[in-house]
Amino acid sequence: MTGSDFTPRVFSGIQPSGGLTLGNYLGALKRFVDMQDAATHECIYCMVDLHAVTVWQDPVALKASTREAAAAFMAAGIDPARSILFNQSQVPQHAQLAWVFNCVARMGWMGRMTQWKDKAGKNTENASLGLFAYPALMAADILVYHATHVPVGDDQKQHLELTRDIAAKFNHDFGVDFFPITEPVIEGPATRVMSLRDGTKKMSKSDPSDMSRINMSDDADTIAQKFRKARTDPEPLPDSYEGLKDRPEARNLVDIYAALSGRSTEDIMNEVAGWQWGQFKPHLAEAAVATLAPITDEMTRFMNDPAEIDRILGEGAGRAEEIAAPILTRTYDIMGMVASR
Ligand code: TYM
Repeated sequence: MTGSDFTPRVFSGIQPSGGLTLGNYLGALKRFVDMQDAATHECIYCMVDLHAVTVWQDPVALKASTREAAAAFMAAGIDPARSILFNQSQVPQHAQLAWVFNCVARMGWMGRMTQWKDKAGKNTENASLGLFAYPALMAADILVYHATHVPVGDDQKQHLELTRDIAAKFNHDFGVDFFPITEPVIEGPATRVMSLRDGTKKMSKSDPSDMSRINMSDDADTIAQKFRKARTDPEPLPDSYEGLKDRPEARNLVDIYAALSGRSTEDIMNEVAGWQWGQFKPHLAEAAVATLAPITDEMTRFMNDPAEIDRILGEGAGRAEEIAAPILTRTYDIMGMVASR
């Protein structure tokens, strides 16, 4: 069975642990808005707080950053009337289906996840059980809605392959065609925005250096300063995108510019071929500020009314649960659990 047999439905999520970065915006949020606006799929977007707590979160900070992430979604263009926007912990079926998938997925599958290895490091004995089982919860997020398409950045590719494996194993073990084999949607020039200090590392909110990333909440001066100090090489920009092959920092800045301006990388190279960094970097900063400043202003406006954010998330959770509840009940039924209460 393929996704095409199911209602076209998009699901994606972002961890509300700390502020969002330009990587989250270009690799995920902006594309969530594009998929909403295309109106070809029902869109469900979520702040995945149950994922965030797989590592320690300060409760007061988590509450604030969950509201801030919701504000960022809406400021970026997610319209809660057209998309379902909510908070993962408010829809209990995510955790319930995750338990089922903990029983379907194999320890070996989880142990091969590169994010588990990176995050747990050498001291796996001391990592939480939740961190190990994290991808089963992610599969549950997606499959509890029978989502067919999942827009994400490149770093989530392996988790989405595991989601497909879990769906296929469940279908096979119970002799059903119940869960869709979900399609990852990893497209565009910004599926992997890299650190501004090291072009081989992903831009990340957990990087100890704030200079390595642009935060969605950075002001114009900070953005300009971070790009000015971004690591590059001494060569000017080449005249084709191919010429950036072994220049990771240079390629990253060109990719960011292409994604911000919604143009192809070829088109960008036609514009900037032969430029020095002193010319390109302010140009890039200007494009970033033109995109982010209106979003940051909108975010501040939403953040001034936390009760309204909570109301929107509560309403979204109710709509999400209406889809998830019958799918979970049917899952239990397929497995032989007595469904009536
Ligand atoms: P998270 O919170 O780390 O990131 C959220 C989204 O942003 C993308 N992203 C990036 N894209 C390009 N360049 C970057 N530097 C960059 N950094 C982050 C991520 O790929 C992601 O799309 N496990 C997920 C959240 C999740 C989820 C899901 C996603 C939980 N359940 C179900 C999709 C479907 C995560 O930790 O993403």
